[in-house]
Amino acid sequence: MEIIIEPDYEKMSKTSARIIAAEIRRKHDSVLGLATGDTPIGTYKELVKVHEIEGLDFSKVRTFNLDEYVGLAPPHKNSYNYFMWDNLFNHVNVSLSSVYVPQGNTDDPEQFCHWYEEQIQKAGGIDLQVLGIGGDGHIGFNEPGSSFASRTRVKALEEQTVKDNARFFEKEEDVPRFAITMGIGTILEARKILLIANGEKKADVCAQFIEGPVTSQITASSLQLHSYVTVVLDEAAASKLKRTEYYNWVRDNKHLVEKRVGR
Ligand code: GLP
Repeated sequence: MEIIIEPDYEKMSKTSARIIAAEIRRKHDSVLGLATGDTPIGTYKELVKVHEIEGLDFSKVRTFNLDEYVGLAPPHKNSYNYFMWDNLFNHVNVSLSSVYVPQGNTDDPEQFCHWYEEQIQKAGGIDLQVLGIGGDGHIGFNEPGSSFASRTRVKALEEQTVKDNARFFEKEEDVPRFAITMGIGTILEARKILLIANGEKKADVCAQFIEGPVTSQITASSLQLHSYVTVVLDEAAASKLKRTEYYNWVRDNKHLVEKRVGR
């Protein structure tokens, strides 16, 4: 894993947007895996700026979102579908038919999940998967104990996740208890992964998934098994890491690293 520590949220957002923009420039029909939550809002804002100012072209880009609450129709204000249109899709030239978000109000979730996996395969697989991290270490909605081989499916949400996400709803009872989420197995098949996290409340869980053991209790630790992961943190989220000096040295001397090992 490459660990990039930025001084604050704004820099974290700029750096992660730059990584996504570079991927789109490298491959104009990139397949992006996208995440929701507070964390990527700044990144999406930066991407919109790059689109407006530098003309970053989304016309051939295809996107697959990680997850969606079960029971929420796509136009629902608290749905992840709504979030994505509000924060990104409405502001760039992505085509409506190239955007996939799990359908929370599907009549047949099982069949839908199969279909979603098939669409990812048909698109040629995900080139770059963007991730945030939940307070309990989840990626997507892969709660503690999720199999590392899991595929897109319905997951029951943990108590802490329901509490964490209650801020977006009028009352805690309104937070759906189930979600459709890409599995860990689905996420690990992406060619590249970018995880972003900010704030002190993510510091413990970041130290656990980066420097702790690989365990299904912190599902983000499964990323240690992937060969191309970039983690962009602000200083607060990185504050419990032990090897900060090493990560910073690698970042500052990347030109030497690339020359020697080719990543
Ligand atoms: C939700 C989403 C995750 C996201 C997490 C963190 O649980 N399913 O994909 O990473 O929230 O959200 P935030 O960025 O708001 O802390």
